[in-house]
Amino acid sequence: MDFSEFEERILAPVERKTQKDREWRKIWQSVFDHYTLHNLFRIFLKADLEGLVSIVSPGKEASVFKAVTRKGEPRAVKIYRVETSDFKRMHEYIQGDPRFYKVPKNKRKLVETWCQKEFKNLSIARDAGVHSPKPYAFAGNVLVMEFLGDEWAAPLIKDVELEDPEKAFWSIAEDMKKLYKAGLVHSDLSEFNILYWKNTPWLIDFAQGMLLQHPKAEEFLDRDARNIARFFNKLGVKTTREELISFIKG
Ligand SMILES: Nc1ncnc2c1ncn2[C@@H]1O[C@H](COP(=O)(O)OP(=O)(O)OP(=O)(O)O)[C@@H](O)[C@H]1O
Ligand SMILES: [Mg+2]
Repeated sequence: MDFSEFEERILAPVERKTQKDREWRKIWQSVFDHYTLHNLFRIFLKADLEGLVSIVSPGKEASVFKAVTRKGEPRAVKIYRVETSDFKRMHEYIQGDPRFYKVPKNKRKLVETWCQKEFKNLSIARDAGVHSPKPYAFAGNVLVMEFLGDEWAAPLIKDVELEDPEKAFWSIAEDMKKLYKAGLVHSDLSEFNILYWKNTPWLIDFAQGMLLQHPKAEEFLDRDARNIARFFNKLGVKTTREELISFIKG
């Protein structure tokens, strides 16, 4: 398959939808520029993908799609948008990370580093046994990972009526501890970046994740813990940020 065949195949179903659907057309126009299509082409080969199936989340900085492999397995494809990215924030999170010697000045390169950082962080999380999507491949601004969900993507934990909030809280606390022991802090953890799937919370959105060597890692751990404690306090779980942090570090 060459690039033009790919372009036609990948865009055909999308184009069909955009004829009827204004929302799709808006997303399509803003996501699939030439640069992204090229990266998508590379990753389709790398990750053995067959096609995109549906939009999971149009997003501001990143769009997430459901895709399927040639063997019929579902995948999540996250595409970072160069135009709408918050470069100042990316810069802040990359600077001081010993894995990235220099912070790129070029916007595209910065987004690519960001995407690579999410891939690396997901790999650390998975190796540590954290409930998080398995990363498969990345190319430029595109990342392929395990799809959490069945036909549809799993819901965010904030939109689920939890049967046992205490159990969900401890699952997250255990995952935060495993991550910390592996030398990583999520740094953007809240009920907006946790999906609920197979009766278990799953942590997602790891691009912000920082190594413990980073000068701000402790500050971000503190914020993560505060967000989690606050969310579960509202659900009746008796805990505090301090207690959670001492469990994570214990
Ligand atoms: N592996 C996955 N499986 C299923 N759904 C996913 C997966 N990863 C992300 N999603 C869905 O896509 C949404 C956005 O993903 P994510 O939080 O990683 O991106 P984001 O950086 O927050 O994007 P933005 O800030 O632009 O919305 C999630 O809230 C979730 O609904
Ligand atoms: Mg998110």
